Amino acid sequence: MAKSGDEQVGLTRELSLELARVTERAAVAAARLRGRGDEKAADQAAVDAMRSELNRLAIRGTVVIGEGERDEAPMLYIGEKVGNGKGPEVDIALDPLEGTTLCAKNLPNSLAVISIAEKGALLFAPDVYMEKIAVGPGYPVGLIDIDASPEDNIHAVAKAKGVPVTEIAACILDRPRHASLIEAVRKTGAAIRLIGDGDVAGVIDTTAPEETGIDIYIGSGGAPEGVLAASALRCVGGQMQGRLILDTEEKIARAAKMGVSDPKKIYSHMEMAHGEVIFAATGVTDGNMLGGVRFMKNYLQTETIVMRSSSKTVREIKARHQDMDKF
Ligand code: FBP
Repeated sequence: MAKSGDEQVGLTRELSLELARVTERAAVAAARLRGRGDEKAADQAAVDAMRSELNRLAIRGTVVIGEGERDEAPMLYIGEKVGNGKGPEVDIALDPLEGTTLCAKNLPNSLAVISIAEKGALLFAPDVYMEKIAVGPGYPVGLIDIDASPEDNIHAVAKAKGVPVTEIAACILDRPRHASLIEAVRKTGAAIRLIGDGDVAGVIDTTAPEETGIDIYIGSGGAPEGVLAASALRCVGGQMQGRLILDTEEKIARAAKMGVSDPKKIYSHMEMAHGEVIFAATGVTDGNMLGGVRFMKNYLQTETIVMRSSSKTVREIKARHQDMDKF
């Protein structure tokens, strides 16, 4: 049977702008609750807004990375069908509010994030930790190695960038589990930006070191966030490696149910997000690359980044929304 036009195409270019609307809505909803100390309320507002906007898109989408398993998340759960059911079949990774604590405390770098990909193109990552290492574009392939020491990785980046190690900055989540990593990086003479939360932004920051001052991301964080970050790097051309931390039988079994047969596998960013991918993020609070939502007298302002893997286009969209009733 002949396919309709919609079914023949992959991800259309128009979808990238539509995706910006999805993250804009989620970011505005969360930003209304910014700095109120209520993580749950901000997250719920972002989830509701993202879901209703997603359901207007001409896609037949399945959430593969979302708010959790069906029994623990009433909305945007893994496996939920989204979209208006008319366009291409796609898989979706999303985090309506990445950095819930950052938003609740009105601290930098909370984002509304989404990645949309060809069916089967995204790694089904269980909600466990993932070891991660990432650098931005312009470096030789294979520069970073998750199994090498932090010292070796930092020295490799400095050499490839052509600067002394003291001019390299690494981004690391400020966690007790990273104490020895932090010590090792400090010993090299490199600077560390310790972040309280939000490692999707931490990884994306490596793609524009001239703006963010970050050259390399190292450390463990959420695996779902790892896939979202890998989707962004796919579009900009950076490099990332990730390895799930499956340190109990229960986690190994959970990952196996999601298709992970080798619990020690090192995934490249290409393996976490292959095929055609579109990534969008809107700032909720001010961040290194994106400003947060601004509430003005007669309009709202949002800052969004949208990227497409097929063209490697990166669009930064500063939008003024005068029709404030829509939000
Ligand atoms: P949430 O938005 O779900 O709170 O995640 C924030 C975050 O900092 C992620 O960016 C990161 O991957 C993960 O939490 C790290 O987990 P933990 O706080 O347990 O170290």
